[in-house]
Amino acid sequence: MIVGVLKEEPPGERRVAVTPDTVTQLQKLGYEVVVEPGAGAGSGFPDDRYEAAGAAIGAAEAADVVLGIGPPSPERLDALRPGATLIGLLSPRLRPDLVEDLAGRPLTALSLDAVPRISRAQSFDVLSSMANIAGYRAVIEAAHEFGRFFTGQVTAAGKVPPAKVLVAGAGVAGLAAIGAASSLGAIVRATDPRPEVADQVRSLGGDYLAVAEPEPDDDPGTGYAKEMSDDYNVRAAALYAEQCRDVDIVVTTALIPGRPAPKLITAEMVATMRPGSVIVDMAAANGGNVEGTVPGERVVTANGVIILGYTDLAGRLPAQASQLYGTNLVNLIQLMTPQRDGELVLDFDDVVQRSMTVVREGELTWPPPPVPVSAAPAAAQPVQRDAEADVPSRKADPALRRLGAAVAAAATFGLIAVSPAALQVHLTVFALAIVIGYYVIGNVHHALHTPLMSVTNAISGIIVVGALLQIGTGSAAITVLSLAAILLASINVFGGFAVTRRMLAMFVRS
Ligand SMILES: NC(=O)c1ccc[n+]([C@@H]2O[C@H](COP(=O)([O-])OP(=O)(O)OC[C@H]3O[C@@H](n4cnc5c(N)ncnc54)[C@H](O)[C@@H]3O)[C@@H](O)[C@H]2O)c1
Repeated sequence: MIVGVLKEEPPGERRVAVTPDTVTQLQKLGYEVVVEPGAGAGSGFPDDRYEAAGAAIGAAEAADVVLGIGPPSPERLDALRPGATLIGLLSPRLRPDLVEDLAGRPLTALSLDAVPRISRAQSFDVLSSMANIAGYRAVIEAAHEFGRFFTGQVTAAGKVPPAKVLVAGAGVAGLAAIGAASSLGAIVRATDPRPEVADQVRSLGGDYLAVAEPEPDDDPGTGYAKEMSDDYNVRAAALYAEQCRDVDIVVTTALIPGRPAPKLITAEMVATMRPGSVIVDMAAANGGNVEGTVPGERVVTANGVIILGYTDLAGRLPAQASQLYGTNLVNLIQLMTPQRDGELVLDFDDVVQRSMTVVREGELTWPPPPVPVSAAPAAAQPVQRDAEADVPSRKADPALRRLGAAVAAAATFGLIAVSPAALQVHLTVFALAIVIGYYVIGNVHHALHTPLMSVTNAISGIIVVGALLQIGTGSAAITVLSLAAILLASINVFGGFAVTRRMLAMFVRS
C-alpha cells in the first residue's frame, strides 16, 4: 500500500505527521511513502531529506493510507481515493459536523485522540506525547516572559532568590512542566485532585499540595479526572488564593474531558500576584483555568501579570512534536500491519483500533463502546503471592518439598551424631543457621534480593578473618584453601560495595 503524508493546511501549523526517520520505519513495514511538497518545511525537514530517506514527493490524496495531523478540509476529503484510510487528530468528540461529513464518504477514518488510556495503547497515545511537549514548552514560555532567573544564586552583585512555580493539575502536561521548572532550578509546587500523583510530583522535584481527602470513587472510570465537589472546590480556591500571593509563575493544566475546563484562578487571585508574574493557561482552548485568559493570546493585566493563553504549545517545538507524533503513528501502523507486508488491516476485535475508528468503509462507528480503565495504581499484591507468581515453575510440589526437608534434616542429624565431639557443636550451629537464614531470606521480597545480597559483606568479612587466622597454622592444603576463601570473600566484599554504589547512584539527582 501507499502511505500519503498531507501538508497541514492551517497557516500556524508547523508540524508534519511523518519525518524522514519514520519514512524509513514505514518502508520496513512494507509501505511506499509519498510526501506532499513542503510538508515538513515548518519542522525543518526539507523535501530532499524525505527523498534521501526513500519517499516520493507528490500528491498524497491518491494514497491508500493518508496521514495528517489536523482534520483535512472538505475539499481535500473530496480528493481522497474511495476506500482510503485517513488517520489523524479528528477530534470526533468536539466536531460532530466532521463526523457527519466523514460518515457520508467511502472512507475509513481513525482518530488518534480517541486512543483509550490503557497501558498497551501508550506507544501510540499522541495526546500524551503532545501534552508532554506542551508542558515543557509552557515553562520555557514562562521563563521567556519572566524577567528573572528561575534558579537561586549568590553572586558578588547580590543574592537572587529562586523563582516559585505552581503547577495546577499533575497529568502528563503538568508533570512535564514540573520536571522542566525544577530542572531550571525553581521551587516547584503542584496540586491535583488525584492523590496517586503525589509520588510522581515528588520524583520530579516538586512538592505535592493536597487539597482535601480524596473523594470516594467506585467508578473504574476512563483514566481522566471528573468534576469535583463544591466542598473540594472551596478548599482548592483557598489553596490557590494563598499560593497566588506567594508564587511567581503559575502553569494550569486542569482538564475534564467533554466538559469546559474548571476555573481555578479567579481575577481576584490574579490581582494579588506580583507585577511581572506569569501565568500559562494550558487549558485555554477548552475555556481556560484562569479568569482573564484569551485563547491564543498574551494578555497583561492591570497589575502587570502576564497571562499566556497559547493553544499551540506543542507546535512551538515542531521538530520534536513531529518526531514523536510520527513515531506514535508508526507504532499504530505496525499494530495494524500484522504480516509486515505493507497491507493495513483494521481489526475490530482489538479494543484500541475499535475505539479510534470513527467511520469504517463509509459506515459510522462513532461513538465506540466505553473502555473502562483507571489511572490509579493497582492495589499492591501480598508479598507471598508475588513471589509465587514470579517463579511458578521452580516451585516444587509441597509434599515433595516436605519429604526433601525431612531427608535433609535426617542426614544432618546423622552427620552430627557420627562427627567427633569437637565438630558437633559447630555442625549444630551451622544447621540451625541454614534453617533460620532460609526463612529470613525467603520472606524478603524478590525486588529486595539485590540490595540484601550486596550488603552481606559482614558474612564475607567473617570468612576473611577466619581464613587469615588459618594461614600457616596447618598443612599447605589449609593455606591454599584459606587463600581461595580470602579471594572469593574479597570479591564479594568489593563487588557488594560496587553494586550498592550503583544502586544508590540510581536515586541521586545529577
Ligand atoms: N495510555 C495510558 O495509559 C495513559 C495515557 C495518558 C495519560 N494517562 C494517565 O491519565 C492521567 C491523566 O492524564 P492527562 O494529563 O492526559 O489528564 P488531562 O489532560 O485530562 O487533565 C490534566 C490534569 O488535570 C487534573 N485536573 C482535573 N480537574 C482538576 C481540578 N479541578 N483541579 C486541579 N487539577 C485538575 C487531572 O487530574 C489531570 O491530572 C494521568 O495519570 C496519566 O498518567 C494514561
